[in-house]
Amino acid sequence: MTELRRFVNQVVVVTGAGHGIGRAVAERFGEEGASVVVNDVDEARAREVAQAIPGGEAIAVAADVSSKQQVDALFDAAVARYGTVDVLVNNAGNIHAARHFLEGDEEWWDKLLGVNLKGAFLCSHRAAHIMVRKGSGVIINMSSGGATRAHRGNVAYDASKGGIEAMTRAMALDLAPYGVRVNAVVPGLILTYDLSAEDAVERGKVVPMGRLGTPEDLAGPTVFLATEDARYITGACLVVDGGVLVQQRSTPVDTFPLSRFPKIE
Ligand SMILES: NC(=O)c1ccc[n+]([C@@H]2O[C@H](COP(=O)([O-])OP(=O)(O)OC[C@H]3O[C@@H](n4cnc5c(N)ncnc54)[C@H](O)[C@@H]3O)[C@@H](O)[C@H]2O)c1
Repeated sequence: MTELRRFVNQVVVVTGAGHGIGRAVAERFGEEGASVVVNDVDEARAREVAQAIPGGEAIAVAADVSSKQQVDALFDAAVARYGTVDVLVNNAGNIHAARHFLEGDEEWWDKLLGVNLKGAFLCSHRAAHIMVRKGSGVIINMSSGGATRAHRGNVAYDASKGGIEAMTRAMALDLAPYGVRVNAVVPGLILTYDLSAEDAVERGKVVPMGRLGTPEDLAGPTVFLATEDARYITGACLVVDGGVLVQQRSTPVDTFPLSRFPKIE
């Protein structure tokens, strides 16, 4: 546990914080003294994390970030409890929706883009209106290597993350004159799902640093972007991936093998 206390008296909203990377980020902000608004679409998960936040000051707010009405309720609850929002982490996303392009449909596209991209817009829009009025604030968007390199079977996901990085840059420009910084974090292969120890070791072999990442590997870099040390960083994408993106692609990187491609009769 860190001894740093860089977020005392600051209010941090983390979306999708009931599990995985979002949970680790929310816990790290709590450890550093923040008041944390733990959002998740899954209410039980959000509650469990809020109760376990190390610093102790947290509320759980269940909301689906793809719904404007629910996002409004999320920010209303944050402001009612803590009076403001200093940091927003747009982390909510769905990483389990791989489909071959030929088998994709409108519902698949709308769902993924709705959570991963529109959700970040809706939350950022509410947060930015609060932040610009006090001349300070930080928004951090969770991107993916898929923003700049394609994952097989993930056209909608990759499009959403490409949108996240473009939106990060464009929001950074629009909000810089108001003292609000906007950056993205680009996680690599992070173990946030069930996998046997042997499979994890096997999958980790494609990572230059030799292992899959953990949610905790993302917490420090994400929190850093919200600190005073990062005060001159805006519009940036911070890659936290053990070297995956700088590596030429190799055969074992495939997670969507040709055997899963649809057969054309
Ligand atoms: N795990 C990885 O390898 C990886 C790699 C690159 C990027 N990312 C990105 O990091 C973020 C977190 O991924 P993770 O692996 O920790 O995922 P995860 O599945 O472990 O956790 C995501 C959380 O978001 C919640 N959520 C889903 N839809 C939501 C909605 N509409 N509104 C609010 N909450 C919602 C889920 O209930 C879940 O608790 C995502 O944006 C993902 O795209 C993950």
